[in-house]
Amino acid sequence: MTTPHLTVVRHPLVQHKLSIMRDRETSTAVFRQLLREISLLLAYEITRELPMTTQTVETPLQAMEAPVLEGKKLALVSILRAGNGLLDGILELIPSARVGFVGLYRDPETLQPVQYYSKLPKGMNERMTIVVDPMLATGNSSVAAIDLIKQSGAKDIRFLCLLAAPEGVERMREAHPDVPVVTAALDERLDDHGYIVPGLGDAGDRMFGTK
Ligand code: URA
Repeated sequence: MTTPHLTVVRHPLVQHKLSIMRDRETSTAVFRQLLREISLLLAYEITRELPMTTQTVETPLQAMEAPVLEGKKLALVSILRAGNGLLDGILELIPSARVGFVGLYRDPETLQPVQYYSKLPKGMNERMTIVVDPMLATGNSSVAAIDLIKQSGAKDIRFLCLLAAPEGVERMREAHPDVPVVTAALDERLDDHGYIVPGLGDAGDRMFGTK
C-alpha cells in the first residue's frame, strides 16, 4: 500500500477538539490541553505503518508469536516555537523517541523562513523522523526545516500538523513529495499575512498566551 501525500484525520474526537481550539474565546490552558490530546491522536495515525516483527510471548495458556514494534529508531523534530506544543502528547505514545529542534521565524515582510537554531539527534540517517509544527501555512518554514533535516541524512520523514492550507500542502508536495503530511483539517486558504483562514489565529500565541 502506498502512503498518500496528505491524510486528513477526520476522527470525531479530533474534529471536536479542533473546533474548541478554533474558538477565539478558548483559554490558553484549554487550548494547550486540547493540543496535547490531539497530538496524541495524530501521532496514532502517523505511526500506523511502523515496521513490526514478532516475539515469542508465554501467555498463561501457551506460547505465541506476538506482534511487537521492530524497534526502528525514531526522532521527533519540533519547529520552534509552536511545534513544542505537539511534543508532549507524542512523547507519551513514543517515550523513547529522540527529540530535535529547528528554530525558524517568518520574516513578516517576505514571509520567508530565517533559521536561528538547529539541534538534531545523532544518527538521523537511521531514524524515522516526525517533524511537527501545528500550522502548515505557506509551507516555507516546513520546507526549509525538512531541507535541513534531509541534509543531516534523514530519509524516512513525515510531517505532522494540526491545520493545513492548500497553498502549504502544494508547496510541500512540490518540494518534498516523499514526505507524507498528516493533519486534522485542510482549511480554505491563506490571508494576505500568511495566516490560515478560517484557522485558529497564531498557534504559538494561543498556546503560550503571548498576545
Ligand atoms: N502560523 C500560525 O500560527 N497561524 C497561522 O494561521 C499561520 C501560521
